Amino acid sequence: MNEKDKVPYVVTSKSYTAVAINCAAKAGEWIKSRLGTVKQLSTKTSAQDLVTEVDKGAEQMIRKLILTHFPDHAILGEEGVEPGHEASAKALEAAKNEPYLWIVDPIDGTTNYVHGFPFFSVSIALAYRGEIIVGVIYDPMRDELFIAEKGKGAYVHGNPTRVSGELTLSDSLLATGFPVDPTFNLPQNMAGLQALLPKVRNIRGGGSAALHMAYVAAGRLSGYWEIGLNAWDVAAGVLLVQESGGKVTDTEGRPYDLSVRNIAASNGAIHQDLLDILSDAKATGYPKNESRA
Ligand code: IPD
Ligand code: CA
Ligand code: CA
Repeated sequence: MNEKDKVPYVVTSKSYTAVAINCAAKAGEWIKSRLGTVKQLSTKTSAQDLVTEVDKGAEQMIRKLILTHFPDHAILGEEGVEPGHEASAKALEAAKNEPYLWIVDPIDGTTNYVHGFPFFSVSIALAYRGEIIVGVIYDPMRDELFIAEKGKGAYVHGNPTRVSGELTLSDSLLATGFPVDPTFNLPQNMAGLQALLPKVRNIRGGGSAALHMAYVAAGRLSGYWEIGLNAWDVAAGVLLVQESGGKVTDTEGRPYDLSVRNIAASNGAIHQDLLDILSDAKATGYPKNESRA
């Protein structure tokens, strides 16, 4: 047989979800085993925007595994994209028409990881023609695997997840994050924080957007919002929240799509009140009169 007739061996029998779980579990175990051993700490767009050799190694591991099963699929992974919002918008634009697109954040919560604060996760989503059909988030420190399949529900440890039942903001526990862009995103988030904090039970900033989304899905948080995210931070979490009976929009109430950077996720019941307060505080992350496109 000559060289060009050799067909690479491709494993085809696994479901997308099984592959996503396998990737998240393997990468998560490896990340955990390297906790406290980081050797190369670099910054990206600002002094707060960190990346390590473990982020890069985990993404390589996930890419290889996905391509072993699905060599024709496209992958949008954080560490494969130049830093900065412009580059990530371009990368998403280039990838979004791929029929099958895997969206990967190898460590969501790198700052926590570097400091040994045990709240970080691996986030993997699969979109088919722009629609998220699988979402998996793995927290290796608690060994919690959150799984969602479009139309089939969401689960943690095999148990269905369900959003919480709070009906009012005053009974709600929210979360947010503190974006690394100090010029626009951070002041916007701070304005939202200041407006919401007196009106809710409390607000947490755990440092992993993906886990915040998973916690909304699991009813541990009533809602979550953040300005200035990327698709890999939230794509898996979006499906988890939706499949758990919750609501996800941008911070001005438009339906989620992969290009949304300013996100609001909730149990549904408090969603409009959350959006109204962000709007009144001019804290939606959208400069007035500027469209999202
Ligand atoms: C970050 C985390 C954090 C959020 C930041 C994200 P990374 O992701 O999700 O919670 O506040 O906006 O960039 O950089 O650790 O993958
Ligand atoms: Ca992230
Ligand atoms: Ca990351």
